Amino acid sequence: MSAAFPRKLIFGEDSINQLPEALQDLGLKGKAMLVTGRRFARESGYLDRLGSLLTSHGTDVVVFDEVEPNPSVETVEKGGKLARDEGVGFVIGFGGGSAMDAAKGIAILAAQGGSLRDYYYPAELKEPILSIIAVPTTCGTGSEVTKYAVFSEGLRKNVVASDRIVPTAAILDPQVLRHLPAKILAHTAMDALAHALEAYFHVKADLLSETFSLRALKLILKNFKQAYDGEMTYRKRLFYASMLAGFAINLTGTVIPHGLGYYLTERFEIP
Ligand SMILES: [Fe+2]
Repeated sequence: MSAAFPRKLIFGEDSINQLPEALQDLGLKGKAMLVTGRRFARESGYLDRLGSLLTSHGTDVVVFDEVEPNPSVETVEKGGKLARDEGVGFVIGFGGGSAMDAAKGIAILAAQGGSLRDYYYPAELKEPILSIIAVPTTCGTGSEVTKYAVFSEGLRKNVVASDRIVPTAAILDPQVLRHLPAKILAHTAMDALAHALEAYFHVKADLLSETFSLRALKLILKNFKQAYDGEMTYRKRLFYASMLAGFAINLTGTVIPHGLGYYLTERFEIP
C-alpha cells in the first residue's frame, strides 16, 4: 500500500480565514494564483474575501477565473502560461472539481511548461510542480485530497494521476455549502458515493482504504436526504464523506463506473 496525503487539512466553520496561517506554516512564498470558475467565487463574495486575506498577509494575487465545467486543455494551458508569465509561487484552487483540477494542471504547467498532453496518464509526472492549496465548494469530487485531475478534449476525458499533484493543503469550510444548489449537491454526492463504492470493491482495497470508503458510504447514505433539503449539519457530513472517499480512491484507484462516467459526461452532459 502506498498513498500520498495533503500535509495540512483544515476542516471547520470559517476555516477559510486560516489561509494566511496555513501559508506561513507551509512556508509558501511568492505570488498566489487564485484559480476559479467564472461566476460563483465573484458573486458569492468569496473572491474578494480570499483576495483580502492574501493581501493582508502580504501576498500578491493573480486571479484566473476562466475555468469552465469539465475544464478544457486550452483553458488550463492559458492559465499555466499566465502563471509562468506572472512568476507565480503557488496555486489556490477554489471551486468544485473543475477549479481544483485546473489548479493542478496549472501548477504543473507553470513549473514545467510544455503541453498538458505531455502529462496524461500513464506518463510519469516529475518535479518541479508548484504547491497547490485546494478549497472545495462542493461535496463530491474529493479532488482537494486526491492525486487525480481530469481534463477534457472534445468528447475525451484525460487523466493526470500522480502523488505529486495531491494538494499540499486542503481547506474545507462547510459554510461554502450554504450556496450549493440542491441539484448540484445531489450530482456531486453521487460522485462521492461512486468513489466510495468503487474503492470498496476495488482489487486493491485494504484495511485502510476500507476504513475510508465504508465510513464515507455510511455518511452519504445516512445524511443525503437532509443535506439535499439544505440542512447544514448534514451538508457538513457530506463534505467530510467526500473527502474520505477521496482518500479511499487515492489508495485504490477507481474502476469501471468512472471510465463510463467520463463518456456520459462528455456525450450527454450528465455530470
Ligand atoms: Fe469522480
